[in-house]
Amino acid sequence: MSAGRQTSDKPVIALVVAMGENRAIGKGGDLPWHLRGDMRFFRKVTMGKPILMGRRTFNSLPGVLDGRLNIVLTRDSGFTVPEVVVAHSLEDGLAAAREDTARNGTDEIMIIGGEDVFREVLPQTGRIYLTEVHAAPEADTWFPKLDEAEWCEVSREQHEAGPQDDHSFSIVVLERILGSSA
Ligand SMILES: NC(=O)c1ccc[n+]([C@@H]2O[C@H](COP(=O)([O-])OP(=O)(O)OC[C@H]3O[C@@H](n4cnc5c(N)ncnc54)[C@H](OP(=O)(O)O)[C@@H]3O)[C@@H](O)[C@H]2O)c1
Repeated sequence: MSAGRQTSDKPVIALVVAMGENRAIGKGGDLPWHLRGDMRFFRKVTMGKPILMGRRTFNSLPGVLDGRLNIVLTRDSGFTVPEVVVAHSLEDGLAAAREDTARNGTDEIMIIGGEDVFREVLPQTGRIYLTEVHAAPEADTWFPKLDEAEWCEVSREQHEAGPQDDHSFSIVVLERILGSSA
């Protein structure tokens, strides 16, 4: 197998998450804030790539997200939704995502939550698109604590709250330090 081929066979597993200062990510099956600016970033960074999510996160969306293969993890063998790939294990979900990246020549699998799925996939994750929300809202779902020795911040953009944002936020990209697993 050539080196070039190997690259497209091994897309990076990337998390996309918005987290409060208290590590909050969700409340009552929804997000604990409205952040139009972050939604725009989410759309841009995931467009054209496979997105993999837990069934509860899928239920929180208005529907299938366009322009991206939607892969939903569930243990419910009766769960079907048109235009959605259903997977019953993380490995099956990642395999479907890898097929999509190979087909479309993309290089990232975007894991979009929620807490259960982030925790399960974190050891295999190479990149994190982390929106740090400058607030500490009440929550019932949380982003796992990262081992700082394993992650390197490669970019940070500060965003003031626009008219449709509850809070200011920073978009940070973290890369796994080579040799620290994944
Ligand atoms: N701030 C953010 O960036 C962000 C991102 C995403 C979600 N959220 C929030 O997070 C909350 C949802 O997160 P959550 O942790 O409750 O749920 P979740 O991770 O979205 O979904 C959990 C469900 O996924 C399925 N699942 C998980 N692992 C599986 C596996 N290995 N094999 C098969 N199925 C598997 C199970 O579905 P079944 O029960 O159907 O078997 C499980 O109940 C919501 O409040 C949402 O708004 C926040």
